[in-house]
Amino acid sequence: MTEILARNAPQTVRRSRPESVLIETYGCQMNLYDSGVLEALLRNRGFEMTRDHAAADVIVLNTCAIREHAESRVIGRLGELSKYRRDNPDLRFAVIGCMAQNLGEAIPRQAPYVDYVLGPDQFYRLPEYLARDPESFPVINLERGTFDYERVLPVNENPWINFVTISRGCDNICAYCVVPRTRGHQRNRPPEEIVAEVQGLARQGTVEVMLLGQNVNTWVHRGQRFDDLIGRVSRTDIQRVRFMTSHPKDMTPDIVARLASYPKLCEHFHLPIQSGSSQVLSRMRRQYTRRHYLELVESVRRHFPHASITTDIIVGFCGETEAEFEETLSAVDESQFDSAFMFNYSVRPGTFAAEHLPDDVPESTKQARLSRLIELQQRQAEENNRRLVGQTLEVLVDGPSRRDPERFKGKTRTNKTVVLDGQTDLLGRLVQVRITQTDAWTLHGTLL
Ligand code: 5AD
Ligand code: SF4
Repeated sequence: MTEILARNAPQTVRRSRPESVLIETYGCQMNLYDSGVLEALLRNRGFEMTRDHAAADVIVLNTCAIREHAESRVIGRLGELSKYRRDNPDLRFAVIGCMAQNLGEAIPRQAPYVDYVLGPDQFYRLPEYLARDPESFPVINLERGTFDYERVLPVNENPWINFVTISRGCDNICAYCVVPRTRGHQRNRPPEEIVAEVQGLARQGTVEVMLLGQNVNTWVHRGQRFDDLIGRVSRTDIQRVRFMTSHPKDMTPDIVARLASYPKLCEHFHLPIQSGSSQVLSRMRRQYTRRHYLELVESVRRHFPHASITTDIIVGFCGETEAEFEETLSAVDESQFDSAFMFNYSVRPGTFAAEHLPDDVPESTKQARLSRLIELQQRQAEENNRRLVGQTLEVLVDGPSRRDPERFKGKTRTNKTVVLDGQTDLLGRLVQVRITQTDAWTLHGTLL
């Protein structure tokens, strides 16, 4: 453990009541999962959770480092939250996750009230750190580790849908990406543990699990492959299985074919294309071509005729020409994505691109290309959804509609949100819904 920037320990008064912790989560599903693990560990140790910043004894920010914006947002948020320290000098701040790993001691240098900086392999030790004051603050621990923390079932507000981590870290070499730096090498979780966690969740009433990893397709364990794991998870009492994220280079035709033999596997595939130009893909070091990607989409559609396919796209990567960008537009047109996360390229210090490729596409060009792409994608999503009107889909009802709390929302097997009327006894149930109306993001339907 490294402890730097020594300053006096806050005058912590150990209270007779349990201490309350508030967690804010940024970034991806893995962070949501980790926050759930942390909450379970904290509760086991006698901490209480709160949503009221003014009542918190500890505020935890679980952070992301994927784009510069993700980091500057957290720095801004820390500034805002520091006001609570004025009213409560014992309040402690913890920054955990990818940005903690990426920026380390620079965080307390910029925000001196931050007491704990713990990377993605060390966040689980926070309850232990909180229980005994160190000699000095801040406590910084960015060590790599396995993730063999106590076997806890993560806490999730939605009891019917849960994440289960199958691997952590990433061995790919994408030129733009900071994740291999923040989350380290890929480590696969043993299948027995994964299956036990899924079965434990199913017993508690979870209907659907999302298996998580930075690159799920390369999960292996003693000769078993990812598709074997899906088979094992399918044999538990869980009713729906999905996974995220796949790397197009590792989603081979035999894996796709085998996956089609598991009826519990939901027909939704998130396949980040990043660019539709083979030249850009090569500069990005993605290790596949445009042609490979489009063939993969075709193979998924052949085996799963009702599949939804979603993607991630980066616009304005180093050296991207107008013609190369147009290839992204045409690949999007051919692939008919149901939704896409689309981003302007953001240089991440320490990555291959930051060190070897100039960030030479002007911001205004990136922005203009992004707008064109978003417009095309949105039109396509609307079209795809319009085709669903009149069809009957299986929906897992999982909560009140955000816009209209009198109504309910649920998820199709294709990962689309459906809004419907009903009673609270629908919650957590798989029901058949006839789709009546759609837009780019949401389907509306009536219960059959
Ligand atoms: N700039 C912009 N977008 C990025 N992503 C990853 N790194 C960067 C970056 N440096 C995007 C990719 C990835 C998603 C999670 O975030 O599209 O799939
Ligand atoms: Fe998740 Fe990647 Fe962000 Fe880390 S950097 S929180 S792995 S999206």
